[in-house]
Amino acid sequence: MITRYTFGTPFNTEAAVMPVQASSGSLPPFLGLSEDKLTLTMQLDPDDIVYGLGENMGGINKRGRKYISNCTDDPNHTENRTSLYAAHNFVLIQGAKCTGLFVDYPAIVTFDVGFTDKDIMTVSVEEPDYDLYIIDGAGPSDIIREFRQLIGESYIAPKWSFGFIQSRWGYVNENDVREVAAAHRDNNLPLDGICLDIDYMVRYEDFTIDEKRFPEFENFVAEMRADNIHLIPIIDAGIKIEDGYQVYEEGVKNNYFCKDADGSDFVAAVWPGRVHMPDFLNKDARKWFGDKYAFLIDKGIDGFWNDMNEPALFYSEKTLKEVFEKLHEYDGKDIDLQDLWAFQGLVNGLANNPDDYRSFYHNVDGRSIRHDRVHNIYGYNMTRSASEAFKRIAPDKNILMFSRSSYIGMHRYGGIWTGDNSSWWSHIELLMHQLPALNMCGFIYCGADTGGFGGDTTEELLMRFIELSMFTPLMRNHAALGTRLQEVYRFKDIDSFRKLLKIRYGLIPYIYSEYIKAIKNGTLLFTPMGIAFPEDKTARRTEDQLMVGESIMIAPVYKPNAAGRYVYLPEDMLMLRMRGLDDMDKVPMKAGHHYVDIAVNEVVVFVRNGRALIMGKEAQNITEISHSDFDVYKCGDASSYEYYDEADKCVTLQFEK
Ligand code: GLC
Repeated sequence: MITRYTFGTPFNTEAAVMPVQASSGSLPPFLGLSEDKLTLTMQLDPDDIVYGLGENMGGINKRGRKYISNCTDDPNHTENRTSLYAAHNFVLIQGAKCTGLFVDYPAIVTFDVGFTDKDIMTVSVEEPDYDLYIIDGAGPSDIIREFRQLIGESYIAPKWSFGFIQSRWGYVNENDVREVAAAHRDNNLPLDGICLDIDYMVRYEDFTIDEKRFPEFENFVAEMRADNIHLIPIIDAGIKIEDGYQVYEEGVKNNYFCKDADGSDFVAAVWPGRVHMPDFLNKDARKWFGDKYAFLIDKGIDGFWNDMNEPALFYSEKTLKEVFEKLHEYDGKDIDLQDLWAFQGLVNGLANNPDDYRSFYHNVDGRSIRHDRVHNIYGYNMTRSASEAFKRIAPDKNILMFSRSSYIGMHRYGGIWTGDNSSWWSHIELLMHQLPALNMCGFIYCGADTGGFGGDTTEELLMRFIELSMFTPLMRNHAALGTRLQEVYRFKDIDSFRKLLKIRYGLIPYIYSEYIKAIKNGTLLFTPMGIAFPEDKTARRTEDQLMVGESIMIAPVYKPNAAGRYVYLPEDMLMLRMRGLDDMDKVPMKAGHHYVDIAVNEVVVFVRNGRALIMGKEAQNITEISHSDFDVYKCGDASSYEYYDEADKCVTLQFEK
């Protein structure tokens, strides 16, 4: 049962799609509300688990930390970070009583989940204008299903986007891209997509193509497609200020950009230098911007990634000017330590400055709304603008879309990637923690930069990362400019990478089927052990294993130089140790704790009792995957499997006993 409490006059985020009457009653007794309505308080029992909060740092169990929903472009995902790129204000408390809470509020929300006081969770908003949804159900799975009904069905990504995608900031022209494609094909490495980062544009201007780098773009797109490779260009939020640039000129003429307090167009800076920010909260601007994607769709493009849409601001013109003036005050001064910090702080504080977010305005149906009050739904509305346009521009196509910034509700329009992670071992573990939390909020098509975006990866780290990413719908190897080259063929043991990628393609029929089920049934693709086995105390505290779909459990290795790891089995399972599609050991395992050897080039999967894993055959790309020729790995007496070959095509595969 879902109960909605409305405080003040909330901004309509359109996160919820199912109408729920606002309750006139008081909050349930387990939830305290401060007099000013800004803070909710809930007592936590020692055994309560708190799940949720989507894309965030921290564990599967969110207790012991503070989280701030404030979409932020911060590429240092260190342990102490409280905000990443998204705002996913949903928590699920599993205990003697299970409850879900969704705080639908587009500005900053702070979740103190047993940080200040280990037994208390407080949720604070900045203004008393929000909707609070309380979701009751028989258990976590029930609550998740209800919540997902409330927020609407998730975006369904095209099948090809489950293939391996190679990306790097630094493929600067068509030859760079050709080289990547050829290296995969020549080395018999499966591949379905290559991302185009900002270098394909003219001076980082959206909806342009640099003809010096890509002289015949349309032909090039076709050439790649003939080889079953989809090109996926990036689109950034900021629009370069430049006379003669059509998108800029149209935006200015029609008042489609965010405004300063004085009514002029707000000026910030991102990759192109000085930019205006499209007003994605203005529905006319949203339509206008979305229609621009046709420029690339007309050239054969059928996939995009939306970036810098928190929005990231390197600086604003106004703050930059003020900082320059203040810096002069230090000129000739005897600078002590305090001065030095203040001096450095001036420059370091330029990017994503909270004062800047308080300085510009949106036009929402004629009302002027200050950006900070709706900050967290900016990226969501950028992606919505694209997705709504796709239905107009190319109604017969299913176009890939994934975004960096998001809010609950955006899951109906696209997937997400988890932003600028690093080539760190801890970021394999982090992804394990993020996946189920993202799924709860409806984000099912998601994944991380495999191998790590920032920093230099190693062969071993990339291999271990792949051994987790091979289960995520979005499986993309992406790295930053200037880092070590990270394509799998750059490393010595190409053979093992090849085998791992082939295993991924073998898994796609299962992953895609389970993906569709998660969307249709409002379930999780990645389920925490404590939700799959709620009665099992050890499972509830297991932070580094996940159920993937209905049949399998994974236990990835996320430590360097490890030859294996401890795995907890809540029940008897069948372990598959895979070194390649035709090189697998089947090991029946008893419930309990085990140390399992897992070599660097091996991946282990545990099939649940009474369930089956179907595995496809070798494929170079999605089109080669057979929909009928499977190897079946059963544990116990599984007799059938519901197989989705497409979102609306399900067949029941029957197995012999
Ligand atoms: C941002 C994105 C990253 C991209 C880079 C350049 O940092 O998160 O994925 O490569 O911008 O466009």
